[in-house]
Amino acid sequence: MASLGQIILWSMITIIIILVAVIVLIIGFGVSGRRSISVTTLTSAGNIGEDGILGCTFEPDVKLSNIEIRWAKAGVSGMVHEFKGGKDHLKDQDEVFKGRTAIFPEQVIGGNASLMLRDVQLSDAGAYRCSVTTSKGNGEAGLKYKTGAFSSPEMHVDYNSSMDTLRCEAPRWFPQPVVTWTSHNNTRDNLSEVSNTSFKLNSENVTMNVVSVLHNITANTTYTCVIKNDIAKATGDIKVTDFSIKKTVHLQLLTTNMASGSLSPPALYWILLSLLYLMAL
Ligand SMILES: *[C@@H]1O[C@H](CO)[C@@H](O)[C@H](O)[C@H]1NC(C)=O
Ligand SMILES: *[C@@H]1O[C@H](CO)[C@@H](O)[C@H](O)[C@H]1NC(C)=O
Ligand SMILES: *[C@@H]1O[C@H](CO)[C@@H](O)[C@H](O)[C@H]1NC(C)=O
Ligand SMILES: *[C@@H]1O[C@H](CO)[C@@H](O)[C@H](O)[C@H]1NC(C)=O
Ligand SMILES: *[C@@H]1O[C@H](CO)[C@@H](O)[C@H](O)[C@H]1NC(C)=O
Ligand SMILES: *[C@@H]1O[C@H](CO)[C@@H](O)[C@H](O)[C@H]1NC(C)=O
Ligand SMILES: *[C@@H]1O[C@H](CO)[C@@H](O)[C@H](O)[C@H]1NC(C)=O
Ligand SMILES: *[C@@H]1O[C@H](CO)[C@@H](O)[C@H](O)[C@H]1NC(C)=O
Repeated sequence: MASLGQIILWSMITIIIILVAVIVLIIGFGVSGRRSISVTTLTSAGNIGEDGILGCTFEPDVKLSNIEIRWAKAGVSGMVHEFKGGKDHLKDQDEVFKGRTAIFPEQVIGGNASLMLRDVQLSDAGAYRCSVTTSKGNGEAGLKYKTGAFSSPEMHVDYNSSMDTLRCEAPRWFPQPVVTWTSHNNTRDNLSEVSNTSFKLNSENVTMNVVSVLHNITANTTYTCVIKNDIAKATGDIKVTDFSIKKTVHLQLLTTNMASGSLSPPALYWILLSLLYLMAL
């Protein structure tokens, strides 16, 4: 049996915990007094050395001066980019991003908070967060930015002695892709075993040149070369007939959409309520 003293002690601790929770709840409502607005991110992988766009959209506001946009990156102490009152605010910008970022000012009024990142580096990969405040409220969303290299292939026919050879060549890929060949006649056959693929490091020592050859091809058949890594997929089709060569190439990027809206006040409320309920048991 618990003594009267213990019961009083536990009651007091419980009361204190409940009071603290209530205060947190009140402060929570005070801080996020305005309602939350929806913010959505969408991006595809960045191609090393080129410009990339980290997409972010939000519920528009009629006044540009009310809109604040903040881009941050996990593990980076400074800001990636800050925009408020219709202009860039870059005094807290991290060294890594100096001179490489831009918001599209004329698009902001329409709800576009996308970030342009110039000269994408492998090290730009990571978790980014797009936070937007307007007169209606605030919201944020995260995205995972991947970086690498990808390029469209060129398809060639090498006419050589008795047997013809197809060559599928792409100048820049990273990480090292997988190359597969198929023929599309009546059925789709996997020809990866009769092909030869080589990877040669480019001069900057990161991206690689991809060359894949397929031997013993037959006329009137469509052959497909697929170059693929975890950020992009390139496809080259080629059909050689007695009179012509038909080629098509296609580059497709993996896109990530990781809208992670902030906890809205009602959600916070229910979590605290559940906590209070658990403590009361
Ligand atoms: C935002 O604006 C940029 C620059 O004009 C554009 O490339 C991008 O597609 C826009 N994003 C959306 C979601 O409209
Ligand atoms: C095919 O052509 C290449 C140059 O185009 C040549 O080096 C190679 O010896 C040829 N191979 C055959 C089997 O004819
Ligand atoms: C494609 O089909 C034609 C006729 O149907 C056949 O002669 C040829 O060998 C086939 N090619 C391949 C690669 O299967
Ligand atoms: C083709 O075959 C190779 C090895 O036999 C295999 O690694 C590859 O996944 C296959 N590709 C397809 C598209 O089935
Ligand atoms: C294909 O690659 C193998 C090694 O993987 C090599 O021995 C062979 O000579 C290559 N064949 C051609 C035609 O390039
Ligand atoms: C690439 O690597 C080679 C050998 O490892 C080195 O000599 C060269 O300087 C490197 N190039 C760059 C741009 O780092
Ligand atoms: C390709 O053709 C050569 C010569 O015609 C033949 O020796 C070889 O077995 C063929 N290879 C394949 C994979 O069909
Ligand atoms: C390819 O198709 C054309 C017209 O359809 C035909 O004349 C030719 O004989 C075919 N060639 C082969 C190698 O099947």
